[in-house]
Amino acid sequence: MALPANFLDELRVRSPIATVIGRTVKLARSGRERKGCCPFHGEKTPSFYVYDDHFHCFGCGEHGDVISFVMKSTGASFMEAVEDLATQAGIEVPKPTPQAAEAAARQAGIAEVLEAAAAVYAKWLFEPQGKPALEYLRGRGLTDETIRRFGLGWSGEGRGQLAGALRSKDIKPEQLLEAGLMKQGDHGVVDMFFSRVMFPIRDRRGAAISFGGRIMGDGQPKYVNGPETAVFSKRRSLYNLDQARNAARKAAKIIVVEGYMDVIALSQAGFAGAVAPLGTALTEEHLEEIWRLTPEPVICFDGDAAGQRAALKTTELALSQLAADKTLKILTLTGGDDPDSLIRKGGIKAFETALKRAEPLSGALYPMLAGTRRFTTPEEIEALRLRLREFADKIPSKGLATEYWTALWDRFKADYHPSWGKKPEFKRPDFKKGFGPQPRQWPIPPRMAPDAAKADLSRARHMLATFFWHPQLIHDLDEAFSHISLPEQESRLREALHDFASGAKILDRENLLAHLQALGLGGEVQALEAALTSSDGEGRIFDPLESPVDAIRNWWNWYNHMSDIIRILRAQHDEALRDYAARMDDEEAQERLKRYTNLLREAEAGEAGGADA
Ligand code: UTP
Ligand code: MN
Repeated sequence: MALPANFLDELRVRSPIATVIGRTVKLARSGRERKGCCPFHGEKTPSFYVYDDHFHCFGCGEHGDVISFVMKSTGASFMEAVEDLATQAGIEVPKPTPQAAEAAARQAGIAEVLEAAAAVYAKWLFEPQGKPALEYLRGRGLTDETIRRFGLGWSGEGRGQLAGALRSKDIKPEQLLEAGLMKQGDHGVVDMFFSRVMFPIRDRRGAAISFGGRIMGDGQPKYVNGPETAVFSKRRSLYNLDQARNAARKAAKIIVVEGYMDVIALSQAGFAGAVAPLGTALTEEHLEEIWRLTPEPVICFDGDAAGQRAALKTTELALSQLAADKTLKILTLTGGDDPDSLIRKGGIKAFETALKRAEPLSGALYPMLAGTRRFTTPEEIEALRLRLREFADKIPSKGLATEYWTALWDRFKADYHPSWGKKPEFKRPDFKKGFGPQPRQWPIPPRMAPDAAKADLSRARHMLATFFWHPQLIHDLDEAFSHISLPEQESRLREALHDFASGAKILDRENLLAHLQALGLGGEVQALEAALTSSDGEGRIFDPLESPVDAIRNWWNWYNHMSDIIRILRAQHDEALRDYAARMDDEEAQERLKRYTNLLREAEAGEAGGADA
């Protein structure tokens, strides 16, 4: 619905974000902003910051304005959130524009037509003409109660039968065309569905938005789905979302399956939270819709090659949106079954047993990428390592990406380099032979050659430049950056960046440059950026326009290749460990140790990986 832009501006002004968020999240002042524990992922130390006009969580990456906060925290739609905020602010949502009103009326018209059609189809199923269809559905194990609950129907034989039945309700063929129930044929409009068992498709609130129709027995196409219309979009709609949404409120598991019949069979067997896409692969929008219901849906795939391809595709999509409260469980069925056929053969028990095998994405990912074959050549093994890295890198949250990479790396090492992780055995020195070379747990970093120093400086400058273009990343990377030793000029820039991030209200390039200018560092910035516009001769390229996700990835890559970094991190890690040992119940000490353990692991993995990417 179209809202005048100035209304949204006013709504934002009248709904101060800190006040709105403060109703559900305990916020404390921190400099100019406020911070608290993020409501979108479980955390004990606050990394959720609320600024004047937006919020940002440095833990999970969630961010947005006041409207998206209400949407994300309550599951409301955009309009619902607007209404909600307007009520609380005591202002009225303006009447829609004439165009918007007309579009809304048209949609309401389509909705009525679809409901009327659903009622007619359902009535026909229980009349003599629908007998074969009813027998077909009963023959597939559905009870009459299930058939009624899903509103299943019979399409009739076509040739205008639906239009005829709806004429008494003043519904015209043009309206059926608009609703996707008829289509333009060579000789005028014809029925979209005929001689088919009908499955009404409903939106999240339960309004009919389209239909699927199945042929009885064999024949092509097996299913016909309604076309895209003003109310139906395949990339957004999920079959049974309305019932699953209610079930989710009563703690039902959300299970995503492939087909209509799988959803219905599961629902009849007591798994009321089943949904399915409509003949397309799962989309980003589908995942978003599903994550509004539950942080960890089970995605169920057939065991065949097509199912495996679909699983990988869905996984890729999910990784690029993954957060602490947005993940998946993967269930791969075996023996050529889909959920419907499994339940038909083995009953509820069979599916319950299968469901126990559903694996969290973090565990399912390695076998999905590594396959069942054992790689033998160095090229194949290296290709696998790169593939694992590529998938971990798809995760936007740095912390989560590190967790996944660590889990993948551990399994990779166990499979292909079982000796790497082992502690060296203690050998009693043989005094007669003298002290032979002692076994070492870690390779000692090679002594820094002049070239290495040059490369390090170039890396450090690239890291600095990243901050010039993405100042919002400073908070997150500041601490790690502080461990690098820098020449004086670069070190001054680093300090200035740190000050800026702890004091500035809005972390953007414009403000940052003004801050550096004021400190007399404008010339330095210019010189540094000018030097980076050409490649540094070692393949490092700086791209100011890269996405923040890519910027973070490159930043860590440069960081992990600093020649001294592992030694420094080891020292920091040891210190954190001693500190933690001294005060075990201190959360901060524990957090710090965790951070350095991750940093160190990451850097070691980077070292094993060779040169900068
Ligand atoms: P399946 O062929 O796996 O469907 O296609 P199914 O649910 O197991 O069907 P039954 O058990 O034979 O009745 C999965 C989904 O793909 C879409 C439908 O949404 C179907 O539910 N599909 C399939 C189509 O859109 N068109 C087709 O021709 C086939
Ligand atoms: Mn099936």
